[in-house]
Amino acid sequence: VLAFAGAAHADSFPSRNITIIVPFSAGGPSDAMARILAERMKVTLGQAVLVENVTGAGGSIGVGRAVQSPPDGYTISFGHLGTHVANGAVYKLNYDLVADLVPVVLLPSNPMIVVSKNAVPATSLIELIAWLKSRPSPATAGTAGAGSGSHIAGVYFESAAGIKLQYVPYRGTGPALNDLIAGQIDVIVDQTSNSINQVRAGTIRAYAISDEKRLVSAPEIPTAQEAGLKGFTMTLWSGMWVPKGTPKEIVTKLNAAAVEALSNPGVKKQMENLGLEMTPQDQLTPEALGARQKAEIAKWWPMIKAANIKME
Ligand code: MLT
Repeated sequence: VLAFAGAAHADSFPSRNITIIVPFSAGGPSDAMARILAERMKVTLGQAVLVENVTGAGGSIGVGRAVQSPPDGYTISFGHLGTHVANGAVYKLNYDLVADLVPVVLLPSNPMIVVSKNAVPATSLIELIAWLKSRPSPATAGTAGAGSGSHIAGVYFESAAGIKLQYVPYRGTGPALNDLIAGQIDVIVDQTSNSINQVRAGTIRAYAISDEKRLVSAPEIPTAQEAGLKGFTMTLWSGMWVPKGTPKEIVTKLNAAAVEALSNPGVKKQMENLGLEMTPQDQLTPEALGARQKAEIAKWWPMIKAANIKME
């Protein structure tokens, strides 16, 4: 009887609004991607898809909210390498990032980009590193909180470049970027999708991306390797999950709506303009996200634990 009731429920899904919980501020890169997707997913699903920003503690508050939601497909947990991998090594979470969530879809990824306020006297990555080393006290680096993408990338950059940064946590890199433009902080090791339009507008300065190849949409920015820094290669991928116990049919419907959105030419164009790399076709399954998350936990947790990161 229960199985039948579950199936009937899945048949009529969705019959009301769906909410995507973005664990960072409005206007930042996670929010931007979620809103582009939501706009298109609502067409396929025939229901409004809303974005709710539940911020704080490197995104772990918003993910916790999603984990505690009913497993009925109406609440989606949006996140990335920071929230759904790194946070598990930084915080004592009261949920398990793998066991308490069911993967829905692996979303586009982007390299990180080293950016500074325009007042920094450096015109190349090597000059920037020299400037960071020469300072009497560490330069300030904006992040979206301990364990967020920009923080983990900052720690990785510190170790690759042999420098020290002083982190300034925000509730997302959207507000951190505003402060960088205003000259309140010195640098961000940011998601390219967040910074790229400001780099294009000349309001901040870009030095390198953490990728092996240049971006198609911004080929003038060198890779870190080309700019003289080895060992700084990282891709920040995003994803969507639902609480454990969500019926498989509902996960399948959400995955199909997300896959449809990702193949939409308008969506692709918006994302590619932001320097995002679309998920390869064969990686669009829930299983691919689950495998990626587990592989990245194995890869990142030892480094993060060794860095002895403090929670803010
Ligand atoms: C955001 O949307 O603010 C970012 O995804 C934050 C980050 O992890 O750097």
